Amino acid sequence: MTKAVDMQNISKRFPLVLANDRVNFELNWGEVHALIGENGAGKSTLMKILYGLQAPDEGKLAIDGAEVSFRSPKDAIKLGIGMVHQHFMLVEPLSVAENMVLGSEPMKGVALDYGKARSRTAELIKQFGFDISPDTKIEDLPVGLQQQVEILKTLYRGVKILIMDEPTAVLTPQETRGLFKFIRDFAAKGNAVVFISHKLDEVMEICDRMSVMRDGQMIGTVNREDTNQRQLANMMVGREVILRVDKELAQPKGVQIKIDDLVVMHPAKQKPVVNHVSFEVRAGEIVGIAGIEGNGQTELVECIAGLRKADGGTIYLEGRDVTKESARVRREEGLSHIPEDRYERGLVETFTASMNAVLGDQYRAPYAVGLGFLDEQKIESHAKALIKDYDVRPSATNVLAGSYSGGNAQKLIVARELERKPDVLIAAQPTRGVDIGAIEFIHKQIVKARDMGLAVLLVSADLNEVMSLSDRILVLFEGQIMGELSQEAATAEKLGLLMAGSKLSEAA
Ligand SMILES: Nc1ncnc2c1ncn2[C@@H]1O[C@H](COP(=O)(O)OP(=O)(O)OP(=O)(O)O)[C@@H](O)[C@H]1O
Ligand SMILES: [Mg+2]
Repeated sequence: MTKAVDMQNISKRFPLVLANDRVNFELNWGEVHALIGENGAGKSTLMKILYGLQAPDEGKLAIDGAEVSFRSPKDAIKLGIGMVHQHFMLVEPLSVAENMVLGSEPMKGVALDYGKARSRTAELIKQFGFDISPDTKIEDLPVGLQQQVEILKTLYRGVKILIMDEPTAVLTPQETRGLFKFIRDFAAKGNAVVFISHKLDEVMEICDRMSVMRDGQMIGTVNREDTNQRQLANMMVGREVILRVDKELAQPKGVQIKIDDLVVMHPAKQKPVVNHVSFEVRAGEIVGIAGIEGNGQTELVECIAGLRKADGGTIYLEGRDVTKESARVRREEGLSHIPEDRYERGLVETFTASMNAVLGDQYRAPYAVGLGFLDEQKIESHAKALIKDYDVRPSATNVLAGSYSGGNAQKLIVARELERKPDVLIAAQPTRGVDIGAIEFIHKQIVKARDMGLAVLLVSADLNEVMSLSDRILVLFEGQIMGELSQEAATAEKLGLLMAGSKLSEAA
């Protein structure tokens, strides 16, 4: 039988790195195939080549037995290849069905044939058992369902080879189960799926084979029956990885963050997105906020960091009312912030790693001297230290941040925010897209800082992370705190229920 995809000897060089080094990759019809490896290993690059987004410098690509050469994704889409990116590319004010046809509208005269798009969308929804309606507007859908729309869009175009780049990063456990059922059914129909993920438990659950990349090379491909999580981790990182966080019981001291009756309104809809929220975080403890994205976490975090105005309530940092203070003042007083969107708020893509390593503190000592002259040597040596300690790759300090792989960009931000020795850290999705070796390291650093008295507010959609790192866990649903659990009491099931808006008593 012909293979769905046969990539032979694929190489791709960027200015500073060989992202793909003579890579062979084969995908069979009917299988779900994981592509795993450390940050910067070359996974996204290989899949962008398969999807026609990037041209290889060398190598051959065959789809269903026929050699091809893509000039753009259009060529790949014609052959039934679809890619779901981690960042969704939907148009929010439009409906599900309208989003389906963007770029491939069924025309009726010159106007969009909405009726046809709608009925075809409805058919697909039914066929694949999705839980959405063609007429719903994207902005009214939770993130998990928006992902279904992304998948629907590829199905609409007749996808047979589906590439998913870290698809479960934003889903609840329940939504992940739904996604996995879809993937299995889709593959069982004779299609093929590539699944990129850093979550090895999911990879073991859903994939038939796993291909592991390291430093641009293909290390090997294994069958699920012949491997386990530990071995996969080892193949990826080249050493043993501890999959659990080791930490002592917290010894909380004085209150560092106090949120009192905080309200943030939706800018357009006149309804609260943060709805009378109150809680405290003490020095020496990690308080986790679990919740499906879009339930007020973003607004809550931005409000505490000073990037968004509160519409009611008070924020105290170390006992002082800072509700009306700027982000800069809060930062000077010892607040660090790892933002959820690494490019929108975390890094400046067109700046070097050096400048990004001091971003937010560049205007003051020790990085600025006199009338705002930068001490380039100080900045450079600080950047070097961060890059080395956090193993950011490539390690040159003159790399532009925009060319980092997802996980390496994240590592630089975490390094900058933690190593300025704050009193309070607000960490939103601190390890999203980071490989397990680096997660282990970042978690250790956060726990170490906690033990030295740091107050940590951790916001994460990754339940494993919330459960293993937090001393206490709050669950946010539609802007309100649904409940609080201690680390010992928290289970994925209990949290999942709270995250979906049920009370624990209803579930019992
Ligand atoms: N457009 C680009 N310009 C320069 N370098 C790039 C570009 N895209 C990727 N790279 C580099 O190529 C290497 C591989 O990146 P790639 O995005 O494929 O990694 P990845 O395996 O997907 O990592 P992650 O798990 O962090 O997403 C990295 O070192 C990255 O910095
Ligand atoms: Mg990637």
